[in-house]
Formats: sequence, C-alpha cells, structure tokens
Amino acid sequence: MTAVSYELIKTCKQTGARLGRVTTPHGSFETPVFMPVGTLATVKTMAPEELKDIGANIILSNTYHLWLRPGEDIVEEAGGLHQFMNWDGSILTDSGGFQVFSLSDMREIKEEGVHFRNHINGEKLFLSPEGAMQIQNSLGSDIMMAFDECPPYPASHEYMKSSVERTSRWAERCLEAHQKPDQQGLFGIIQGGEYEDLRKQSARDLVSMDFPGYAIGGLSVGEPKDVMNRVLEFTSPLLPQNKPRYLMGVGSPDSLVDGAIRGVDMFDCVLPTRIARNGTCMTSNGRVVVRNAKFARDFTPLDENCDCYTCRNYTKAYIRHLIKTNETLGIRLTTYHNLYFLVKLMENVREAIKEDRLGDFRDQFFDQYGFNKP
Ligand code: GUN
Ligand code: ZN
Repeated sequence: MTAVSYELIKTCKQTGARLGRVTTPHGSFETPVFMPVGTLATVKTMAPEELKDIGANIILSNTYHLWLRPGEDIVEEAGGLHQFMNWDGSILTDSGGFQVFSLSDMREIKEEGVHFRNHINGEKLFLSPEGAMQIQNSLGSDIMMAFDECPPYPASHEYMKSSVERTSRWAERCLEAHQKPDQQGLFGIIQGGEYEDLRKQSARDLVSMDFPGYAIGGLSVGEPKDVMNRVLEFTSPLLPQNKPRYLMGVGSPDSLVDGAIRGVDMFDCVLPTRIARNGTCMTSNGRVVVRNAKFARDFTPLDENCDCYTCRNYTKAYIRHLIKTNETLGIRLTTYHNLYFLVKLMENVREAIKEDRLGDFRDQFFDQYGFNKP
C-alpha cells in the first residue's frame, strides 16, 4: 500500500506535456498543478476556505520552520498539521534541506547531516535525514520530501558530484527512517546542477530506490532560464512515466508553462504571495505594480480578464490606497488574485493538454503577458 499514487491521463500531442492525477490520503488533484506555499502552516493572509475557493487542493509547508516554531511535537499533539491549521486538502512538506542552506548561517555539512545556526536567534542546531523524516512523520503531511543538499549556482563539477553522491546516501537513509510509508508518500530529489552526467547519476540512484514521486531540485537558484529548460529536457526523460514529477521552487508564469511542456507535473513557489505583499500582481497582460502613482485614479480591476473575488469587486485605485496606507485588506486582495491567477493558469494548461494545443497556448500567453518568445 502506497500513500501517494499517480495516474497519467494523456500527453499533449503538440508538446509532450502530461495531464495526470495525483491521489493522496487527503484527496486527489489534476496535474500540472501549482501549489501555494504556506511556510508556517498558513498561506500568508489566506484562510483555508479562501484557498478552497480559488481551487487549490494541495499546499506546501516547511519542516524547517515548523520544527523551530511551534515545534513538531505541538503540531502532532494538535492532531497533525491538517487539524492544526484546519486544512483538509493535501499537504506537501519540504524537508528542510533547502531552507537550512538558504536561511541559516555558518552551516557545516557532514556525512551525518548539517550543523548550522538557526535564523531566528542564532542557536546551534543539527538536521539529518533521520531528523527530517521524524519531523515530517510528526507533522503528518501527505507528501514528505527527502533530505537533500541544494548546492548554489554555479558549483564546480567536482563539488556537485560529491554532493549528488551524498544526497543519494541521504535518500537511502530517509527511506530507512520513514515510519509511515502507508500514510505518507516520500519523494526523492534529483540534484546535479546543470551537469547532464550528474543528473543522470542522481536519477539512476534515486529511481532504483523506487520512491512514489520525484522532485527536480537545484533549479531556480540563479541560473538563466535556458539552463533550467535544458536541464528539464534531459532530466525529465530519466524519470518513470508512472510517477509524479515536481519542480521545486519554480512559480513564474512563463516557467510554469515551459516546465509543463518539459514533462513537469507539480510546482511551488513563494513568488505570487511574496510579490503580492509589496503590491505587485500577475495579470494576463504582465505584471502590474499597483502601488504605482499612475493607478491613483484607475477605477478598473487589476486584470480585466480575471473573474476572481478581488477583480469582481475592487479597483486598482482602491487596492493601491489600501496598500499605501498599510491596510491589511490590501495584501489579502492582491494575494488572493495572484494565487487565483496561477491556479487558473494551470487549469488552462490542463485544458490545452486535453486538446493537444499547449504549444499554441504558450505562444498566445507569452505574447499577451509580454515575455519574449525564444
Ligand atoms: N526548494 C527549491 N529547490 C529545492 C531543492 O533543491 N531541495 C529542496 N529540498 N527544496 C527546494
Ligand atoms: Zn483577479
């Protein structure tokens, strides 16, 4: 009995993109899908009913942050993360590997795990594959992530090779330490940077361990877009057809479409929620910085093509006023719209896959959004 399963429904004849369905103990969702990020057991400013409302069925949360605050023991005592935060849809937790590397100071990577100082008060901490599994078992997420190393870009081939080999050894230890494989699916993470031979090595190692899903990690770490696309092109075919593929930390609208075209099924990113909080919105005509003075008397919605709650009821002039005066409703409205925009974009991507026209959809979407067609 595996906790997480994937069904491939069809592939787009024009692009090879995959339409599929992932099933977890908390329901199922169609892919390609964008997962809103709720780092601290909340998608900032959004109540769970609102997430349901926009059509989100899976959200992401973080091992590292919940371990530090409030502590996974408290979440477990509450009845697990779903109960604690009142979310009955699916939850994926990242392992803490990436956060330890991006947030903490003075880390030291050893075979046993990573020693580092906590980003809040500087306290000395240690996280290992076993620790990351124990925390995620306590949180009770539907999809857990293996504890990996995400090296910076660029990294030398020599460093990357030793890192990939360590990440494979850590993945074995994660499988061994995972206590609830019948209730929580554990995904492996492919690393290897921009090096094709190392992505091959990483994929070969992890696929032989037979995880119920695979992530492609180590991307969106500062590399140019064409490097990311090339890595996806040679990495995606190394992964099993009958398992979901998750591209970690990617959420710009162009990368979601380009990732789906290269066979990716799942995406997450803080981008839509983060930029919403400083008044930047994603719209069908590109980014709108609603704080901008030019919108002071603009009594039209953020996006005339959007039918979200925000766009049906409020104007740019009003949202600009709320954000300029630090009224909390302002960032709630922009967050709601940005998440709706990406969830809807993925709905449109799935529709285009069904009709074998994702390539045409990409051309039209990129033209209207203002991305240059490469
Ligand atoms: N989030 C974005 N990239 C990564 C990665 O490479 N590993 C992990 N664990 N999380 C990520
Ligand atoms: Zn809207």
